[in-house]
Amino acid sequence: MKWVALKGDGKIAFKIKSRLKWVGLVGLVLSTFSILTHFLLARYTDGGVSEYQSSITIFSWRPIFENVDLSNNHFLLLQNPLYQRLWGPVRLLESLHPYANPRENYAAPIHKTSGFIFVRIRGGFHEIRNSICDAVVVSRLLNATLVIPELQSTTSSKGISTQFKSFAYLYNEDQFMAALAKDVKIVKTLPKHLKGARRKKEIPSFKVSNSASPHFYEHHVLPVLSRHSVVELVISEGGGLQAILPPHLEEYQRLRCRVAYHALSFREEVEELATKVLDRLRASGRPFIAYDPGMTREALAYYGCAELFQDVHTELIQHKRSWMIKRGIIKGNLSVDSAKQRRNGLCPLMPEEVGILLRAYGYSWDTIIYVSGGEVFGGQKKLIPLHAMFENVVDRTSLSTSWELNKVYGREANLDDKISRAPPVKEEIKFEAWKTSGPRPRPLPPPPARPKYYNIEGWWGWVAESDREPESTVMELRTNAHKLLWEAVDYRVCVEADVFIPGFDRDGKGKPNFASLVMGHRLYQFAASKTFRLDRKAVGKLLDEIREHLYQANHAWIKSVRRHLKRKLIDGLAKEFTGSKELSFLSFPVPECSCTRQISPEKISNVSSPSSSSKLPAFVGDTRSCPSWMNGYTLAQSKDKESEEELEEDDSTSAGLFFRQSNTNQEAGDGETVNKEDTQMEDNEDLEGGDR
Ligand SMILES: *[C@@H]1O[C@H](CO)[C@@H](O)[C@H](O)[C@H]1NC(C)=O
Ligand SMILES: *[C@@H]1O[C@H](CO)[C@@H](O)[C@H](O)[C@H]1NC(C)=O
Ligand SMILES: *[C@@H]1O[C@H](CO)[C@@H](O)[C@H](O)[C@H]1NC(C)=O
Repeated sequence: MKWVALKGDGKIAFKIKSRLKWVGLVGLVLSTFSILTHFLLARYTDGGVSEYQSSITIFSWRPIFENVDLSNNHFLLLQNPLYQRLWGPVRLLESLHPYANPRENYAAPIHKTSGFIFVRIRGGFHEIRNSICDAVVVSRLLNATLVIPELQSTTSSKGISTQFKSFAYLYNEDQFMAALAKDVKIVKTLPKHLKGARRKKEIPSFKVSNSASPHFYEHHVLPVLSRHSVVELVISEGGGLQAILPPHLEEYQRLRCRVAYHALSFREEVEELATKVLDRLRASGRPFIAYDPGMTREALAYYGCAELFQDVHTELIQHKRSWMIKRGIIKGNLSVDSAKQRRNGLCPLMPEEVGILLRAYGYSWDTIIYVSGGEVFGGQKKLIPLHAMFENVVDRTSLSTSWELNKVYGREANLDDKISRAPPVKEEIKFEAWKTSGPRPRPLPPPPARPKYYNIEGWWGWVAESDREPESTVMELRTNAHKLLWEAVDYRVCVEADVFIPGFDRDGKGKPNFASLVMGHRLYQFAASKTFRLDRKAVGKLLDEIREHLYQANHAWIKSVRRHLKRKLIDGLAKEFTGSKELSFLSFPVPECSCTRQISPEKISNVSSPSSSSKLPAFVGDTRSCPSWMNGYTLAQSKDKESEEELEEDDSTSAGLFFRQSNTNQEAGDGETVNKEDTQMEDNEDLEGGDR
């Protein structure tokens, strides 16, 4: 700043020379002032940041959390029962530890390879992750050499940096190869002579399904592999090997865990950004919630949730649904009773509903909530209620600068994107149809002079006048590739969050989604960390009880929500064990990849109830004890579970409960006081109930 000011000063001083020293002084003050104004403008104007990005990067990120109370010391608070209920570990699962090492005799990969396996993976972030793990397992199963898989979503994407492509766009190749050295042989590319053959499409290729069995690989793929010494596997269903393997292949499940949780780390630049985002989230010293809405257009279309939107998004979802029906992805009618689907727990919870549940559970209005996901279908509009209930709702974009994102993207050419403008010929006809097509609230038809093109805001343009979805532009293809990187950042934030709550756990093919992978990873890595595994059917019923007055819940309702959420921390596991595991092993890698450590006798001796591990859900009961070398860790003091079970809490039943009231008027001040008193009351009651 000083340097710039002096430069401005110099100009003036040069002209006027030595005549009036104070003119220079005024110049200095003025130029300082103008630069300050520029900085302020840059901070508060959209686009300003990027304009200044080369010179003032350091200023362009500003901490977003208000009212940071630094006295909230995490360690002191852990003793506090309310804090424990909101942020503390799930005691019952504290004995589960990650343990993915091989258990029986496990040989290094044999020297003689049966051939090369070349894998092409299609799909989104979570599908890629599942598929890579399966590719490694298949290679080990066949004693083959794995060529670093090719990710179609990045190789076929136009306009992304050539610096990073394919696997290396997302993941760290060297780390991947090094971490799996004892499991499979991995090479970066095919040997020269096979490369040529591949280019000429002369190598045998298998399109494998996500339920392919080990038998299929041993009896159909292996003979071809032995004959040609190379095969290509095309994986497009989010996996290439059945999720549940027969008991004698249990070692391969642990291999899946080693791949997913130890070998797959993101490219260095991505890891760096994720670490930065996490640091910024934690800068205030407070814990945070990660929330993955799971509201993608595909999932909403697959489950027929279109009518939950009541706006242009309904048409967009139905458009997708009819496309899926044409392709046989869904069997069923185009129009579906969305309300019924929701009652059956088959639709994502809306951000508003999740906000209400969190407020009811006791999270205060200033709780930090990280919204994950490359896409919240329905747009920012759908997040407004959440923003109204919570002050500090943030996401990737508010915690990073565009300069940092650009660094992650790599060197990308400036695209000059040609916007296809449809000739406005049929407009009048469509206009009529638009006017007469039913009672649903609809967006306004496009104004006649407006050029119609396809972008987030322009969607309604083509919905109104064309039945065909416009081709993706180069820019959109690039954004789609970038989504993978965003999801990578979100993935790490969600895995490491103090609390995780998913809005939905299925993708657009009815399979476990991004949030499921996160939940699996958390279950493996920190089993006791708080992960709300909601029963959407039960939650939907609860919400329906107060649907007419969502923001004025009474005491009894809040109590039942708390009881439900709390119970689901454990019970939700059983449902996932039966529901998700058979579709994706990584959504539930327990008990194969975990071990239990008994809580040492002196710590449980004075607890009247049976030891915690005996109350673990049945499937965890199969878990092996941890090897003795792991006993060095100190365990947190285990409390009696019963003391936390029944929480008698007094909540004032006012409309102000779920909304943070603004500071601007007198009433608001009162509202906050009430809230504070509430919290204190809860604390006291928890203390009374909890500490004996
Ligand atoms: C792979 O190698 C192991 C160890 O030599 C052997 O036991 C196994 O049968 C081989 N599998 C195949 C499919 O060749
Ligand atoms: C589709 O709709 C028809 C009549 O509207 C109904 O009889 C049929 O059961 C529906 N099919 C499915 C799969 O819901
Ligand atoms: C547990 O109870 C025994 C007597 O029953 C007592 O000697 C011991 O100090 C208690 N331990 C703790 C940690 O309170």
